[in-house]
Amino acid sequence: MNINIRNEEPKDYRSVEEIAREAFWNLYFPGCHEHFVIHKMRDHKDFIRDLAFVVEVDDQIVGGIFYTHSKIVSEKNKEYKTISFGPVFISPEFHRKGLGKELITHSIEVAKKMGYRAILILGYPYHYEPYGFLGGKRYNISMADEKYYKGLLILPLYEGALDNVSGHAVFSDVFDVKDEDADEFDKSFMPKEKKYQASQDEYEMTISLLDEQ
Ligand SMILES: CC(C)(COP(=O)(O)OP(=O)(O)OC[C@H]1O[C@@H](n2cnc3c(N)ncnc32)[C@H](O)[C@@H]1OP(=O)(O)O)[C@@H](O)C(=O)NCCC(=O)NCCS
Repeated sequence: MNINIRNEEPKDYRSVEEIAREAFWNLYFPGCHEHFVIHKMRDHKDFIRDLAFVVEVDDQIVGGIFYTHSKIVSEKNKEYKTISFGPVFISPEFHRKGLGKELITHSIEVAKKMGYRAILILGYPYHYEPYGFLGGKRYNISMADEKYYKGLLILPLYEGALDNVSGHAVFSDVFDVKDEDADEFDKSFMPKEKKYQASQDEYEMTISLLDEQ
């Protein structure tokens, strides 16, 4: 397998959206929004073009990762700039071959070199703990409702990056998507059936889990 990671280019846009759609379809709810989110993101003020990567296997794109600006807002309204990744995805037929790991690790290394303070993400802890992400509670960083959720995961990018930093996480508004807009965008893709699958239950259960340790 000849693996190559490089920045996303305009010629990749459609195939990246198609792969994202395959990876996320029916995973968290019937259908998915991720291909539309990526489409919007590229023109959004929070998009970080230098951290948009695709991974190729034998010259074919099989996955991607996208970053946006986010922040931690303290109790006194002081803002600390952070970054966030997502969507991150690998084409389903290439799962568990280490490609996601290569892509995430590469992007984290580049983000470190760019001098960013920390990465905040929402996701399953078992996906991201291997990279050193820890629950927000460990850093006194909550969601906007001041609760600590297990799904809020944080990785400081340099020594002491989060010393004396606490507050709540704020993600880009690019993720606020209306179902009807996503559905309209989806019409330009091959028809695909929206349906229930068991992974949706895991997602529903996980997003509300509080970190009470
Ligand atoms: C999440 C995703 C990007 C991982 O990509 P991948 O190439 O399959 O992951 P890797 O093979 O590099 O796995 C690296 C490690 O992550 C963890 N991991 C990845 N997928 C996992 C899963 N389904 N269950 C448990 N652990 C998992 C494991 O620790 C794994 O190491 P291992 O295979 O040695 O046990 C891929 O499964 C995907 O595209 N999923 C659908 C979209 C999605 O959920 N994206 C994340 C939310 S934005």
